[in-house]
Amino acid sequence: MGPPVLLLVEEETKSWKKMINVAVSGAAGMISNHLLFKLASGEVFGPDQPIALKLLGSERSFEALEGVAMELEDSLYPLLREVSIGIDPYEVFEDADWALLIGAKPRGPGMERADLLDINGQIFAEQGKALNAVASPNVKVMVVGNPCNTNALICLKNAPNIPAKNFHALTRLDENRAKCQLALKAGVFYDKVSNVTIWGNHSTTQVPDFLNAKIHGIPVPEVIRDRKWLEEDFTQMVQTRGGALIKKWGRSSAASTAVSVVDAIRSLVTPTPEGDWFSTGVYTSGNPYGIAEGIVFSMPCRSNGDGDYEFVKDVIFDDYLRKKIKKSEDELLAEKKCVAHLTGEGIAVCDLPEDTMLPGEV
Ligand code: LMR
Repeated sequence: MGPPVLLLVEEETKSWKKMINVAVSGAAGMISNHLLFKLASGEVFGPDQPIALKLLGSERSFEALEGVAMELEDSLYPLLREVSIGIDPYEVFEDADWALLIGAKPRGPGMERADLLDINGQIFAEQGKALNAVASPNVKVMVVGNPCNTNALICLKNAPNIPAKNFHALTRLDENRAKCQLALKAGVFYDKVSNVTIWGNHSTTQVPDFLNAKIHGIPVPEVIRDRKWLEEDFTQMVQTRGGALIKKWGRSSAASTAVSVVDAIRSLVTPTPEGDWFSTGVYTSGNPYGIAEGIVFSMPCRSNGDGDYEFVKDVIFDDYLRKKIKKSEDELLAEKKCVAHLTGEGIAVCDLPEDTMLPGEV
């Protein structure tokens, strides 16, 4: 006779945590195709965390969504206890503990930035309302669909019953890109690079902060003694990485975006290593950096692993960094005015600075 397999499984199940519901929009898209299998495998929430995946798609993508669900089921992941699909956010977001909002329309040829903000803004206004109505009251929301900072702002404004600090715009991809470039330049492995902040918008005004970043625990400007490279080449490389990738690949980043969503979630559900921090786009109210209140801005945060975060205090600024941050702040304040009709703040006035571009638009 073999070992009592069923009993073992039962024992194991008892040591698992309570199941969590993870809703994913744009579930039939490329980013999700990488992300969903990572979620189901346990590499995101841990090997003792069973999950239900609730997949939101559109009418147009419904068959593809069915295909995704079939592949998930066929993968026999022990931690994946339920898979459901739908096109109505009021159904799919029910009791969601996490909502990963990936689905958004990409900017088409000839489309103005203001049009994109409006079209995608409407999606995120509706999804915010749906989360407010049916999700867990402490749901954590990660907005990936672009323009993600302002989409996150619209979403949180339409979900007044959910704490505003629960909403994130994904800038972890930018942080990872910055870490990679610093590591390559210094000739070290990625894990020697820490304290990297992306400030601001997930756009070409984003500010990869080399002033506070460290390599082997030493400030980056003392390791990479080439201020011109840091201010110009490095900064631009990170700001425009999405566009460079589209040129090579013919489409937006998908695999690395999914990896960075995993990193972003893991940063919230595991304690941040001593002395380090991570970047995430969050609501600015109460921030200690002097950033305008009432926008979603990427800033350095730490977590004790409970899904929440706090702002980091020991950050330094110089004139260069302040000036750069101000530019991204101005851009987000302009985007905010542009979507006032979707946030309940009056009539939209759209006067966007010329260089308001997604990373993929350069
Ligand atoms: C990226 O950073 O790779 C994407 O946000 C690019 C884009 O504009 O789709």
